[in-house]
Amino acid sequence: MKLLEQANLGNMVLKNSMAMAPMTRSRAGMDGVVGDSTVLYYRQRASAGLIISEAINISKQATGSPLTPGIYTQDQINAWKKVTRAVHEEGGVIYAQLWHTGRVGHSLVKHGEQPVSASALGIQGQQHFTMEGMKDYETPRALTIEEIKQIIQDYKQAAINAVEAGFDGVELHAAFGYLPDQFLADSSNLRNDEYGGSMENRNRFVLEVMQEMVAAVGENKAAIRLSPTSTYNNISHQQPVEQFTALIIHF
Ligand SMILES: Cc1cc2nc3c(=O)[nH]c(=O)nc-3n(C[C@H](O)[C@H](O)[C@H](O)COP(=O)(O)O)c2cc1C
Repeated sequence: MKLLEQANLGNMVLKNSMAMAPMTRSRAGMDGVVGDSTVLYYRQRASAGLIISEAINISKQATGSPLTPGIYTQDQINAWKKVTRAVHEEGGVIYAQLWHTGRVGHSLVKHGEQPVSASALGIQGQQHFTMEGMKDYETPRALTIEEIKQIIQDYKQAAINAVEAGFDGVELHAAFGYLPDQFLADSSNLRNDEYGGSMENRNRFVLEVMQEMVAAVGENKAAIRLSPTSTYNNISHQQPVEQFTALIIHF
């Protein structure tokens, strides 16, 4: 495969084999609505065969940092329509990267609400950007089973919203220590219910989210990003080869 040759992705043909990595830009409004600078930014980069968007919050609770975009209100969806239209006008293809930050956030960014995670274990030795400057991480609240089921539905709805907004597909951001990775990692998941305690149980949240995303958009349009060896955001996986092999065998 040569870089400038066409490539296949799902049932789509990409005009070349270059993909643009997702990059958080923090250019949305405080309401998570993207504006003209985001339309221009993605239009300028549509010569790539595939663009993966910056991470997009699936819900208000998912939001960890100020000025990051969302895809859970009608205003947010309508704003993304301008972005996807611009990319398509240039012959590009764009996937939406779906994001729940979990403990990688701060109550100052979350209207006073405590961050949530697989377990009540905070990030140590790092600080988080807020509109009031850098702040130490707080200890998150462990999610209940009912809340976990709701978040899985939030991912599904966000995937449906992404299709409405004109995205060609969706990618679960399960990398770099955000909520799905907080469930995957033994360093952040100390649960002893069906979502923790064993490799199989720690993989369950990601698998259930992917099942719902596939149900929402189809298997040809659903992707996942994993980072088995990254330690960003205080994450470590003790047996990455075994765990991630057991995970991707399902895809
Ligand atoms: C400012 C910045 C923002 C990023 N935002 C995201 C993001 O939203 N989602 C994601 O999966 N990765 C994100 N990344 C990681 C990049 O996609 C990429 O993996 C990383 O920069 C390493 O790429 P390289 O190996 O080509 O240097 C970000 C990286 C940077 C520097």
